[in-house]
Amino acid sequence: MKNIKSYVNQHKDRFINELIDLLKIPSISADSAYSQDVLNTADAVKNALEKAGCTTVEICETPGYPIVYGEKIIDENLPTVLVYGHYDVQPADPIELWDSPPFEPVIKTTKKHPDGAIFARGACDDKGQMYMHVKALEYMTKNSNLPCNVKFMVEGEEEIGSSSLAWFVERNQEKLSNDVILISDTGMISNSQPSITTGLRGLSYVEVEVTGPNRDLHSGLYGGAVANPINVLTKMIASLHDSNNHITIPGFYDGVEELSLNERAEMAKAPFSLDDYKKAIDIDDVYGETGYTTNERNSIRPTLDVNGIWGGYTGEGAKTVIASKAYAKISMRLVPNQEWKNITELFTKHFESIAPKSVKIKVTPHHGGQGYVTPTDNIGYKAANKAYTETFGVPAIPQRSGGSIPIVALFEKELKSKTILMGFGLDSDAIHSPNEHFGVFNYLKGIETIPLFYKYFTEMSK
Ligand code: BES
Ligand code: MN
Ligand code: MN
Repeated sequence: MKNIKSYVNQHKDRFINELIDLLKIPSISADSAYSQDVLNTADAVKNALEKAGCTTVEICETPGYPIVYGEKIIDENLPTVLVYGHYDVQPADPIELWDSPPFEPVIKTTKKHPDGAIFARGACDDKGQMYMHVKALEYMTKNSNLPCNVKFMVEGEEEIGSSSLAWFVERNQEKLSNDVILISDTGMISNSQPSITTGLRGLSYVEVEVTGPNRDLHSGLYGGAVANPINVLTKMIASLHDSNNHITIPGFYDGVEELSLNERAEMAKAPFSLDDYKKAIDIDDVYGETGYTTNERNSIRPTLDVNGIWGGYTGEGAKTVIASKAYAKISMRLVPNQEWKNITELFTKHFESIAPKSVKIKVTPHHGGQGYVTPTDNIGYKAANKAYTETFGVPAIPQRSGGSIPIVALFEKELKSKTILMGFGLDSDAIHSPNEHFGVFNYLKGIETIPLFYKYFTEMSK
């Protein structure tokens, strides 16, 4: 594959422009106002896969947004790589914090990306990273060096919990059969130090509603004598952590995998600067569970965070009122051996039990999923590491991530194969935030590295 570098170099402007076109479609799965755009994005992905050389491409209907499925089978006796990605994106708000409109991609340089980065919602998560695979396939088919079979499965509901994909996978085990699943929807340490994600956290996401009086009340006439749902809710939330920032829900840590001191020492070898970490997000100090480092807190330890909280009067000026209701959205990131449905139940039971009689509580579970940990002693990991070593000049470091891709655990259960998480984004790429971007270097490096994975995986499978 000597010519991959020159192929990328020759076609890079087109590769960038094609991605920019894809990024212009606002495929926000969470907001039904954009449903036509989500569907149009599925069509665009279908066309791209056809052009890149898939022989069969279908838009597979589901109860929700469709799955784009494509394949190129060259020989039943060769291994099959199943590529997964998502074409939906997060909502863009708060829109006023974007320096350029989220669906009008622009290229600008940054400190971390001196060669430029594409700024748009979905640039890194996950359109840019998914599209690297489409262009890598194009390279392999156009140059007749696709070494094995390939299947693509690109979904449109990752950002809202992948329930239609779960439905699809359960019904299509045969069609999706594979030897390894390849995903680029995570990050790496830096542009000079690649890493392979070996773990993802699970997730339990709930919404709580606290109801006090049956209507909003005058805070002078009733204040002090009637429970204020916002006061109560904030107090209840505060009690969910103790003074060591340990979560207080009974049973929450039952079975939580404790890493050995050796494993923790291995983890601590990865390059990391606490100073840079604090500077990048402008904080004077970090925060978290006593007894664990920052990198442990955000990967191997479970968490509980309020994602949103509202109620009462938030308009201009002041209004003296005791609201009837208060709400919060709460996420819990989970680690191996925590079962997400069980955690949702434990949360619900505990939250109900700590509520004073003066209010009513409703807990509504949203989505969730299991965490994932993959070993490094399999040929998928080894092939990925060899590919990175060749294109970056240094071996990749295994690293567990704090993020979640809940469908990965289901892939292993239903399709019985390992997932290799070859991410090319950086933590500073602002995924889910205003001014999300993806480095041009990262995009092109991904396209260059992926075909080598195919090559080494096929060789090592023999
Ligand atoms: N691509 C991310 C997950 C991710 C990003 C993992 C970076 C590791 C490193 C994915 O699109 C995502 O945002 N997942 C959600 C969960 C989902 C159920 C909404 C998350 O992690 O919050
Ligand atoms: Mn993603
Ligand atoms: Mn995401």
